[in-house]
Amino acid sequence: KSRIILDCDPGVDDAIALLLAFASPDEIEIVGITTVVGNVSQPLTTRNALRITAMANRQDIPVYAGCIRPIILPREERGASVHGTDGLGDLDVPDATHEIQGQHAVDFIIETILREPGQITLCPIGPMTNIALALIKEPSIAGKIKAIAFMGGAAFSPGNTATDAEFNIWIDPHAAQIVLSSGIPMTMFGLDVTRHATLTKVRFEQLERDSSPIMKTAIAMMRHYGSGDASLHDPCVTAFLIDPTLFRGVDAVIEVDCDPSGAYGRTRATLVENGAGKGLPVCHVITEVDDTRLFQLIDQRLRLL
Ligand code: BDR
Ligand code: CA
Repeated sequence: KSRIILDCDPGVDDAIALLLAFASPDEIEIVGITTVVGNVSQPLTTRNALRITAMANRQDIPVYAGCIRPIILPREERGASVHGTDGLGDLDVPDATHEIQGQHAVDFIIETILREPGQITLCPIGPMTNIALALIKEPSIAGKIKAIAFMGGAAFSPGNTATDAEFNIWIDPHAAQIVLSSGIPMTMFGLDVTRHATLTKVRFEQLERDSSPIMKTAIAMMRHYGSGDASLHDPCVTAFLIDPTLFRGVDAVIEVDCDPSGAYGRTRATLVENGAGKGLPVCHVITEVDDTRLFQLIDQRLRLL
């Protein structure tokens, strides 16, 4: 069973990733949810994290607000067209009545890892600003993080924000570079794989059959997100913790392009088998998913909520 901190910017697909984790208590224990600027502003991603926990009746999971901007270059949030102005598809998901925690997300991450060395898996599914700042503030946590499984980047395929850049990395490439060079065991779910984790029209219809109120809301959010083939980017990370056999990947060294006049936000991959990697941190880059089984998992689990 994985004990995790879910670092997110909800975000419709972040919401599905969270719901999938809530529905899988035998495999995933969420120690805390941390929020970051990304799809929408941090106050909105935080509000959404609270709304999703309330929707699933999981107010017991603490929510910590994190960074309000990337480390170096400020970026306007660009997710509104994709995720709605409120970040959850503008569906009037009710507001939560419970509160955010007083502690900053970065301090919560540091404190939790120091308290439970080697036990915590970090799951960033938005820009990696909080994780990078935690590593800068308390470098000793690097050796005490069990693993990082993150959604971001495009190692062997085109981007979705700039020609070569995926959204989460493009928002804060400096943060991504800090995290990717930290030496922490790392598994990357980039567009290479998440593009193949899609909700087709037929799958939308299957989800709709005998759906519960939570499933109905989840479907409505995803329909806003892309009614044709909606990519389930972030849920790949939580699905991996539930059933790693759904995925396959390769080992590579990943470097992030941070030059604003270059391919800003690109994740450049060099396969380890090509002689790279000597002394450099290696990342397990997921490239394949059994998307039929992934969909079955999501369908079965979300029905449990
Ligand atoms: C990533 O960007 C966000 O819009 C999604 O939530 C996901 O984390 C996909 O590029
Ligand atoms: Ca996200």
